[in-house]
Amino acid sequence: MNFVSELENVATKDLRELESCVEDAIKEDSFIYEACAPLINGGKRLRPVLFLLCAGSTGTCPIKSALPLAVAIELIHTASLVHDDILDNAKKRRRVETTNAKYGSQVAVLVGDYLFAKAFQIVAEGNYGREVSETLSKLVKNLCVGEISQDRNLFKIPEMSEYYERINLKTAVFLATCCRLGGIIAGMDKKEIDDLTAYGNGLGLAFQIIDDVLDFFGDEKVTGKALGGDLKSGVITMPVIRALSVSDESEVLRDIVTRRDISDSDVMDAIEIIRNTDAVEYCKMRADGHVDSARVNLPFLMKTSTGLALEQIADFVVDRTW
Ligand code: IPE
Ligand code: IPE
Ligand code: MG
Ligand code: MG
Repeated sequence: MNFVSELENVATKDLRELESCVEDAIKEDSFIYEACAPLINGGKRLRPVLFLLCAGSTGTCPIKSALPLAVAIELIHTASLVHDDILDNAKKRRRVETTNAKYGSQVAVLVGDYLFAKAFQIVAEGNYGREVSETLSKLVKNLCVGEISQDRNLFKIPEMSEYYERINLKTAVFLATCCRLGGIIAGMDKKEIDDLTAYGNGLGLAFQIIDDVLDFFGDEKVTGKALGGDLKSGVITMPVIRALSVSDESEVLRDIVTRRDISDSDVMDAIEIIRNTDAVEYCKMRADGHVDSARVNLPFLMKTSTGLALEQIADFVVDRTW
């Protein structure tokens, strides 16, 4: 299933407007525009789309009021990617050179900071109120704590529970927050907002698990990111954790993933060892489980266009190749 074409059935006009507002948001400074325009153009827009779908579900919040917050969400996401690529020493993002590869880490730190600041400026100008600002600030804090925990434990094999704690903080909280903010500005009641948040959380766990599988078994041309990046930067994820517990060659794998200078041939060896186990199947099964639990929260949107779109997004998240 193609995520974008599915979404186009839902809100083509809103999506087009979102694209042009995101681009406008980085036009104020010529260097920022030069540095960010190629990058900003390549994303899936999953987070602002989740937000816009939820915000539009009651018909009480006009798209005009929701759009600036959707733009802020995409800017926060992009800022986090710019900083994440510094941490991961990544060279490619959204099919283009990363900001750190092109301009160096010093500039990339500041470009990320700029995008965060611009996002919060847009939120302040939108007068969304205290709850929205607080929810967004908490999301960024959680994301940072997740990324820091990951960075402080590179080349260490995490327990499955530690892996979950990190992917929850760095990714699931973000998707949950997008849905939650949509529910808040749509004027939903507390139970509905909590249900949407739980949906987003399960979706986010599945999203990151599949991202971690794609880091080993994806197609670079499709994902727009380099393969094997997690292993090389010392980030040990679910496919490795599973393979370590079931592979006959787990000692070899353990030796590779805890080595600080992992070569391209080590990466190939690790991929082969993982491929010879049920790790990919296992990750997909786990992702499916999270998406199934996510869907359980949607009955109150049954047969609405938002409910259908959120179901389609749940399908996309587990089947995606990018
Ligand atoms: C990348 O997110 C970061 C993760 C949480 C895995 P996306 O895969 O949504 O990135 P874009 O926005 O499409 O580039
Ligand atoms: C998610 O993790 C990154 C953020 C939360 C910003 P990854 O490091 O796996 O994301 P990618 O693979 O670089 O997009
Ligand atoms: Mg990364
Ligand atoms: Mg990744």
